[in-house]
Amino acid sequence: MNFRTSLAMACGLMTALAAQAAPDADAAQALMRKSDCFKCHAVDKKKDGPPFKEVAKKYKGKAEAEDKLVKHITTSPTVEIDGKKEEHRAIKTKDAGEIKNVVQWILSL
Ligand code: HEC
Repeated sequence: MNFRTSLAMACGLMTALAAQAAPDADAAQALMRKSDCFKCHAVDKKKDGPPFKEVAKKYKGKAEAEDKLVKHITTSPTVEIDGKKEEHRAIKTKDAGEIKNVVQWILSL
């Protein structure tokens, strides 16, 4: 492989990485609006649930963050709201890519 091809490949790789690092914020928020997530969450304000910026901070640099959050928004774990136990809302999609996009958007805040 000559220098020109390896340079071209390196550029392609960087584009792929950049695409992965930038979740689609509009799609994430549209899906979350549809799933009523913003009833209890805001980006930087505490409502019944923690602000998403706080969630991002809590999981920053943790390797298992993405898996944990995917699980949190798909398996309806029990959460406590004002001392009352409730099932956490699940995201309204079965599409793994869309779920991942929501989680990556939250973690990017
Ligand atoms: C009825 C209110 C309510 C709704 C609706 C709701 N949440 Fe939550 N959410 C909470 C509460 C309360 C917690 C805190 C749970 C805890 O820390 O035990 C939480 C926690 C979270 C967390 C942090 C989990 C963690 O491990 O720190 C994420 C991410 C999250 N919610 C995403 C979502 C998404 C996405 C939706 C929409 C599909 C959603 N929430 C809808 C109340 C809600």
